Amino acid sequence: MARSRYIYTCNQCGYESSKWNGKCPSCGAWNSFEEELADAPKPSGGVNAAGVPDLSDSILELDDIGIDSDVRYDTGLGELNRVLGGGLVKGSLVLLGGEPGIGKSTILLQICQYLGEDHSILYVSGEESARQIKLRAQRLGVNSENLYLLTATDAEAVADTIASSAPDIAIIDSIQTMSISRISSSPGSLTQVRECTNLFMHTAKRQEIPLIIVGHVNKDGAIAGPKVMEHIVDAVLYFEGERHQSYRLLRAVKNRFGSTNEIGVFEMRDKGLTEVANPSQMLLSGRPHNVSGTCVACVMEGSRPILAEVQALACKTSYAAPRRMATGFDFNRLNIIIAVLEKRLGIFLGSLDVYLNIVGGFRLDEPAGDLPVAMALYSGIMDKQIDEDLIAFGEIGLGGEIRSVSHISQRIREAERMGFRTCVIPKQSMSGIDATDYDINIVPASTLKQAFSVIK
Ligand code: TYD
Ligand code: MG
Repeated sequence: MARSRYIYTCNQCGYESSKWNGKCPSCGAWNSFEEELADAPKPSGGVNAAGVPDLSDSILELDDIGIDSDVRYDTGLGELNRVLGGGLVKGSLVLLGGEPGIGKSTILLQICQYLGEDHSILYVSGEESARQIKLRAQRLGVNSENLYLLTATDAEAVADTIASSAPDIAIIDSIQTMSISRISSSPGSLTQVRECTNLFMHTAKRQEIPLIIVGHVNKDGAIAGPKVMEHIVDAVLYFEGERHQSYRLLRAVKNRFGSTNEIGVFEMRDKGLTEVANPSQMLLSGRPHNVSGTCVACVMEGSRPILAEVQALACKTSYAAPRRMATGFDFNRLNIIIAVLEKRLGIFLGSLDVYLNIVGGFRLDEPAGDLPVAMALYSGIMDKQIDEDLIAFGEIGLGGEIRSVSHISQRIREAERMGFRTCVIPKQSMSGIDATDYDINIVPASTLKQAFSVIK
């Protein structure tokens, strides 16, 4: 039987099938299959008798491959450089993802000012008119002479223009607006997004320029269209944050040229994004005084310790089943901590509503956040204040024990730097440090009971 000319691909997960499906058997998405032409690749160039290309001439010795010493561009934003692993790599394709309105276009326009001092930049926009970009640039104070704007949506024409105008850096905002005219599906569809990304990948490699692509995120938090795009590009950065909060976190999800642990912290102001070099200070500013139910936590974001305030409120419920709410903290984790408090310490919360909040729109995802959450809860329930200069971190086990966490000394140093006087840490972690090294009172605790004993 002749092979069908078409294949069907799920636009959510990339699953391929020879027939159309209403529901994707792989990811369960409904009505997500798109028709694509199943083109068999045609071999070209040095083809041997069996029709397989001979690549023996293309093999290189590692020593023979020359690299420029200056292969990274400084973007002028230290936080962005850090997330990129030390700057924008020549010849790399970077995907910047994030929800609409989070600030992707803003940050890219901002870096043009610094990059434009020594390099020429082509900013291709398929979303905004040149006038709109100019207005935004004016507001951001961007007036570089090396910045060139192009409003276009035809991906092949854009790739040709990049090749002919040979800028040092190119920016494409956004991939969902780009399309290749010979592909029939609409812009933003799986096929278009994938083919356009492939096209720009070749452009970046051939021209040896850094190319940044903006990608919108759909309501599930994935880059709209496909995971396939993440496979193609060299680095994937996500811009995160609550839209109504001014803080923005930039996180690397994939990076072929650096670590993916790093985050960059920014604040959205009326003149664009500003870097936050001292996130702990920002997150701790405006703490309430003489209030029970708050405790300071220390989490590691990559190689950086960040202090954040945990607030808990427990009050009598007026419902049959008490309410539990967590903002910035895993809801199930909160329930586990409540269960441990009930079972191991006999603190019953069955008639109390519990609200937990991490201040500043920050997320406390690390196990080290367990202890400060439990302490804030205990403080709230007992209505006993925790000293303002106390900080705690540690993972809580189901037996009510406090388990060790990583990066102990960095966390203590950060607490010290921010002027804290007491630090409650897991007892097990004491073996890795020398308490006399620090100018802070270290309280080792192996159980929750011991940790709570510092709350007077
Ligand atoms: P934008 O960069 O257009 O978002 P994206 O490209 O990710 O969709 O960001 C727009 C938002 O940022 C908008 O809600 C207004 C806000 N903003 C400021 O608060 N200050 C500024 O100086 C700028 C340029 C935007
Ligand atoms: Mg935009």
